[in-house]
Amino acid sequence: NATHRTQAGAGGCPFHAAQEPPTAPNGCPVSPRAAAFDPFDGPYQLDPAEALRWSREQEPVFYSPKLGYWVVSRYDDIKAIFRDNLTFSPSIALEKITPASDAALAVLQRYDYGMNRTLVNEDEPAHMARRRELLEAFTPEALEAHAPMVRRLVREKLDAIVDRGRADLVAELFWEVPLTVALHFLGVPEEDMEQLRRFSVAHTLNTWGRPSPEQQVEVAEGVGRFWQYSGQVLKKMQEQPRGHGWMYDMIEKNRQKPDVVTDNYLHSMMMAIIVAAHETTALATANAFRQLLSRPAVWAELCDNPALIPAAAEECLRHSGSVVAWRRIATRDVEVGGVSIPEGGKILMVTASANYDPAHFENPDELDIYRDNAVDHLTFGYGSHQCMGKNLGRMEMRIFLEEFTRRLPHLELEEQEFTFLPNTSFRGPEALWVCWDPAQNPERRDSAVRDSQRDFPVGAPSRQDIAREMVVAKVQAASQGVLQIALEDPRGRRVPEWSPGSHVELVVGDYVRKYSLCGETDDPYWLQIAVLREPEGRGGSAWIHEHLEPGMTLRLRGPKNHFRLDETAEHYLLIAGGIGITPIIAMADRLKQLGRSYELHYAGRSRSSMAFIERLARDHGEALHLYRKDEGERLDLADLLAAPREDTLLYACGPERLLAALGAGTGHWPEGSLHVEHFSAEGALLDPAKEHAFEVELADSELVVEVAPDRTLLQALRAAGVDVPSDCEEGLCGSCQVDVVEGEIDHRDKVLTAAERAGQDRLMSCCSRAKGKKLVLAL
Ligand code: HEM
Ligand code: FES
Repeated sequence: NATHRTQAGAGGCPFHAAQEPPTAPNGCPVSPRAAAFDPFDGPYQLDPAEALRWSREQEPVFYSPKLGYWVVSRYDDIKAIFRDNLTFSPSIALEKITPASDAALAVLQRYDYGMNRTLVNEDEPAHMARRRELLEAFTPEALEAHAPMVRRLVREKLDAIVDRGRADLVAELFWEVPLTVALHFLGVPEEDMEQLRRFSVAHTLNTWGRPSPEQQVEVAEGVGRFWQYSGQVLKKMQEQPRGHGWMYDMIEKNRQKPDVVTDNYLHSMMMAIIVAAHETTALATANAFRQLLSRPAVWAELCDNPALIPAAAEECLRHSGSVVAWRRIATRDVEVGGVSIPEGGKILMVTASANYDPAHFENPDELDIYRDNAVDHLTFGYGSHQCMGKNLGRMEMRIFLEEFTRRLPHLELEEQEFTFLPNTSFRGPEALWVCWDPAQNPERRDSAVRDSQRDFPVGAPSRQDIAREMVVAKVQAASQGVLQIALEDPRGRRVPEWSPGSHVELVVGDYVRKYSLCGETDDPYWLQIAVLREPEGRGGSAWIHEHLEPGMTLRLRGPKNHFRLDETAEHYLLIAGGIGITPIIAMADRLKQLGRSYELHYAGRSRSSMAFIERLARDHGEALHLYRKDEGERLDLADLLAAPREDTLLYACGPERLLAALGAGTGHWPEGSLHVEHFSAEGALLDPAKEHAFEVELADSELVVEVAPDRTLLQALRAAGVDVPSDCEEGLCGSCQVDVVEGEIDHRDKVLTAAERAGQDRLMSCCSRAKGKKLVLAL
């Protein structure tokens, strides 16, 4: 077979070669779409995620004969590859995807070009030993110190255009500023910056592009000169007393540990890092401005509420990242997503496609700046090689956005055709034309606008700042003590889509409280909640009952769903106690719509205190069972749950008592039958007097993190620069789950089932801790 393939490929038989389906190196036939895939072609260049939709849906791992690579497009497969950097070596990450011509090689040789391993393409164990030595420059404190420099550079450039009314933001700011930031971050002497600036351009085309033979020679000249000049600058820096900057850290480590931070590494890195820190950030910023300005309502929201900027920047990195694909090479025969890849197989992970995988991101095509798991995107890679500079890149994007939304909120995107430099991995428009009316610049009326900056903490965005504004459309009594409230978008837009079991968080002053959505899921303009007046609550529900009226604006997080209805069961038992009816009613509506078999058991104090009785009787009459305490009716759980049923799922919401009784009463049911919605977890606060410190080792990134008695594991991970998504931060939602490789866990969440806990292989990092002194996590 192999010989036959080679002959056909070499044009052995002029009559049959054309008809034979191409074959992948594992012997399998290549599908027509895989055969047609060309990453230098229009569709991939324009929108890589869209160009690979077919692959995500039908053939998530395929061999591309045109590229000679295995292409991987789904989130879980790509993350698994990133996780295992022994099986999937990064050594290929900076290899020229189009091999250099002899003429180009001759040019490079003339310059004694010796670019080799840096960090991003170094194998273990050398990589981790080096990376660990060089992390100090990236601590939040160290990065914080660069913020004023970034701010100053953005301002200088913005000052130059602010009265102009029209500009190409790429040419004026987005290209220049990240380069200058990178050079400052490295500590390159000012007088050498100008020169280095001129060399940094040809790299992308050279490494990830398909340059023509003439371009290859031209690019080789540029690269050769860049190599020589960066060597000279490095030498000069080595001769100077220790200055400030990451390059000086490296020089110092090279003196102390020349076998770890080697000479060739220093020279290679001097050149590679300028690209790594520069183009990535420049293109990401251009993408973000393009996406946000092409959605004027979203841009207006950012101008009104700049606290949303970190979340918006993150969502733009997911939706339109600047690095769209990254490479690995298989060091042994291995399976990815069920497809066998032979040793030596080259792999292109299309991270832009993973970022649109509906199995990981709800409604992925939408740019939603309120998306709470946007930080899970793979634009910064993942695992032991994950971008070290991600928080510097984020900082730059945020400062750009903050300055522009404040000083030029009336900025508009001009009609234009966007062009991209053809290559597999880096993506962003080559120009971005915008216009505005300088007469409307707010700083002309109030000069304070220019300087009234807002700073953001270093790191992944804080979800505390993510909240959308909604207006109260209608308030009415749903029963004694329960108000039903309809909320609408202040600009009359459609409300976000939601599914039964979803909730929103209402932010009223310091008061944040979760409410299940209880309207109709297909109502495009209203989100509805029901609020019980709680005499012993923290006062928020009383405030809502006394003061809320139509026309008022509220802040709201979500919708999100931690109580998702599995629609595949034969039969359903829905159980609600009191105000717990709110998520259950939406589930009942959905089951009815699907034509499923269900019973709805609803218990409460009295008819007048139970919300939605009329609606329930009207829509679910047959399935509805009411239990009114004051009429002597009692929900007999023992009877209801006596016989376990394989085909039935239980969904319940109500007082803790009821949920505890259900937990106890379903012990003999199949594992996973019962699903409950808690409204809050007790004991979420840490008492340092009762806690002990422990250590976590991160297997994927090889970091060791200390967790002090007064800190949660989640806080400690974030402080170490590891992005873990979270939501409730009280053990209710499951979003902060982390896999555990080793160590005994002290589980404190309400998410995991007894069997999952016993497995000791995962925990909720917002609340759970180590029983002993150490845990090893798969992070
Ligand atoms: C590695 C993207 C900004 C320094 C990487 C990787 C990606 C990436 C995809 C490879 C990750 C992997 O193999 O798992 C980006 C993006 C940026 C950005 C999208 C901006 C939006 C920066 C900045 C710096 C930087 C500003 C420097 C100060 C690095 C370094 C590595 C790296 C040193 C190698 C880490 C290692 O292999 O251990 N980046 N980057 N990056 N990046 Fe970035
Ligand atoms: Fe919700 Fe941890 S953030 S369980």
